[in-house]
Amino acid sequence: MTWATTVPAAVAHDVLHVSDHVGTVALVPVYAFGDQRPDIHPQAYVHPDAIIIGSVHLGAGSSVWPGAVLRGDDGQIRVGERTSVQDNCVIHTTADHPTVIGDDCVVGHLVHLEGCTIEPWCLIGNGSIVLHRVVVHTGAIVGANSVVLNDTDVPSGALAVGSPAVIKAGRARRADIEHSVANYVERATRFRASLRRID
Ligand SMILES: CC(C)(COP(=O)(O)OP(=O)(O)OC[C@H]1O[C@@H](n2cnc3c(N)ncnc32)[C@H](O)[C@@H]1OP(=O)(O)O)[C@@H](O)C(=O)NCCC(=O)NCCS
Repeated sequence: MTWATTVPAAVAHDVLHVSDHVGTVALVPVYAFGDQRPDIHPQAYVHPDAIIIGSVHLGAGSSVWPGAVLRGDDGQIRVGERTSVQDNCVIHTTADHPTVIGDDCVVGHLVHLEGCTIEPWCLIGNGSIVLHRVVVHTGAIVGANSVVLNDTDVPSGALAVGSPAVIKAGRARRADIEHSVANYVERATRFRASLRRID
């Protein structure tokens, strides 16, 4: 159970966000794995139905939405500032290749990232998969439902679309990314203030 009327003295996982609007508190499932502990900035928002395990760093203003799993067991996951990791994402890593997501990124619903690097100001479209050693450079967009294969380099400002993804240089619109980043920073603030479970 992730909700209780009081915070227990000892819980199986860390308590992150407390909402006392109706006398309930949210216990967010954040797990240590051996010596690996998540490092979550107090100004980040994690929905109580997300799961964070092990070596996961989450920066200020970032948000993790329902059903998302960030599992830093074999290696590290780093999420910068003001980045959203949306509903049902799977973020994993390998021992050799950390998964790094920069500041001001949008990781859309149902995205799977595995041992890749997403530089600042990128948008990873809904349902896409980005595989090992891929680098998505600043200002690039991965189209919805695309698969970016191992070792692909997505240049700054490019679209990567399709399965397997092809590169369309200079076709990403920066304004699309900026709009989504701002939207999710603001949304996370509202959720932190107003979300409460009522059953
Ligand atoms: C990739 C994306 C940004 C392109 O949108 P756009 O800028 O309006 O551009 P277009 O729809 O004209 O597509 C550009 C080109 O990419 C192609 N393309 C777009 N999405 C594609 C896909 N999933 N697979 C294959 N080709 C695709 C288009 O056919 C077009 O080809 P062209 O070179 O022949 O013109 C948009 O389709 C998308 O996937 N957005 C993601 C939104 C999202 O998931 N947000 C996260 C939640 S907030």
